[in-house]
This record gives sequence, structure tokens and C-alpha cells, in this order.
Amino acid sequence: MPRYSINTIQKFKDNKEKFATLTAYDYTSARLLDRVGIPLILVGDSASMVMYGYDTTIPVSMDEMLLVTSAVVRGSKEALIVADMPFMSYQSSIDKALENAGKFIKKSGAGAVKLEGGTEVCNIISSIVNIGIPVMGHIGLKPQSFHQTSGYKIQGKSINDAEKIMLDAIEVQKAGVFAIVLEGIPSQLAEKITESVSIPTIGIGAGPSCDGQIQVFHDILGLFDTFIPKHTKQFANIGNYIVQAIEEYKKDVISGEFPTADNCISMDKNILEKL
Ligand code: KIV
Repeated sequence: MPRYSINTIQKFKDNKEKFATLTAYDYTSARLLDRVGIPLILVGDSASMVMYGYDTTIPVSMDEMLLVTSAVVRGSKEALIVADMPFMSYQSSIDKALENAGKFIKKSGAGAVKLEGGTEVCNIISSIVNIGIPVMGHIGLKPQSFHQTSGYKIQGKSINDAEKIMLDAIEVQKAGVFAIVLEGIPSQLAEKITESVSIPTIGIGAGPSCDGQIQVFHDILGLFDTFIPKHTKQFANIGNYIVQAIEEYKKDVISGEFPTADNCISMDKNILEKL
């Protein structure tokens, strides 16, 4: 199966087929996502929290993101890998944005990058697209603007705000994005945007009308319990299974039940005698 590309992602919208996407941050989880046939994996800057333990997505660095992106690329053979550009890796100048987008493609092997913002980042988006790097947009609730919005707040509830987000969607499409993440906006607004653009919309907390959905790996598996966002559903609670298994391991080591003869390597008797 050849790797998904921006063309094959577009086909989902053209064929009116819903699709599920997820984040991943390491080799092993990327392999698991491939087994399920997830077409697009986002190496989200949510790595900042779930992998590196920062409070928000703001502190994570380019080097930290490059590291996790390379691991995901090595793990997944089929998905389109989208690397999330961390805060201040693209906002300060076009040159910096091009250099950093290039690092994700050249050093980590990603197939596309994502960046947050609407009309205000259109020149950055088109510059990256013009040098041959696919860009995924991200509008609505923008976690990198945490301080500007005084926390993670649903966007697009007032008429002005909704009109601005609608304009953002149209303009980032014109700037050349191949898909748009719609985060934390009312479902009805997401539906209108999805009808108004020809590229796929991928929702998180944006209702069922988006062409695709994205969720954070750790959220849907119950691996991250610092807070559980309203937009998520825990499809399993792997965290509890892990704790249970580690408790059993600890108990068996302390009681001497592990390791058993099956887990050990025996030495040749003659060699042992010489020792
Ligand atoms: O960083 C992230 O994980 C994201 C999404 C979930 C869209 O940006």
C-alpha cells in the first residue's frame, strides 16, 4: 500500500467519505495506527504536554518536535505524516518559517506541516506551499494563542467571531492549504465552513459535519488524565491496564516469582566449574 498523500486525502472529501485521523509521537504507536489504516497522522505540538510534560503547547521546541516526528515516520509506512510547527518556529519571519518547515521534511521525513492561524498567516502558508511543502491549516481554537485567549476557549460563538473564522477558512484555502483543522468551534459553524471549502476539514471539538476527525492519541486511550477535554471520548482506559500490569510485575519481583527458569539463560556446567 503506497503512502497516503495530499491527493488521496482530498479523495475522502471528493467521495464524501468520512475519515479518522490521530496524533502520534513515537515509533510504536505509529506502527499501531498503521495497522488500523489511519490515513493521516499528525505529530501534534500536543507532544509538549503528553510527551514532554509542559503545561501548554507553547514551550515545545523545534528540536523536540523533530525528534518525535522522525520516530513516527520510522514507525508508519502508510500514513501521511504531518508535523506540527511549534510556537515561534514560523511566526517571526518567512525565512524562519521556510527553514523550519524544510527541517521537518528533510530531517524528519514528514510529508507535510501544520501551522495555526487564519488571514494573519496566509503569506507564511503560501510561501511554504510555493517551495513545495504541503501545509495543513488550523483555525478556531488555537492552543498556541493560549495567553491571548485567556485559556482554551470555544471560538466562533459571536457573529463577528464566526465571520472571522469563516473568512480564515476561505483565505487559508486560497493560500494553498490541503486541509484545515477546525478546533473548538460550534458544530453549525463547522458545517458551514465544510460546505464552503473544497478541501477536507478535520474537526476536533467541531461536531460531526467535518469531513474528518482528529483526536489526541493519549486522550482516546485514557493515557493522559491531567484533564479530559469535552471534545474527546475515551475508547479505552489503557492507563489503568498499564498500572495494573506494572503492579503485578513489581509484586512478582519482590516475591521472587519473576524471573522464572523460562526467563533465564543457563551456563555450561564445565565453564561454570572453571570460573
Ligand atoms: O497538537 C495537536 O495535537 C493538535 C490537534 C489535536 C489538532 O493540533
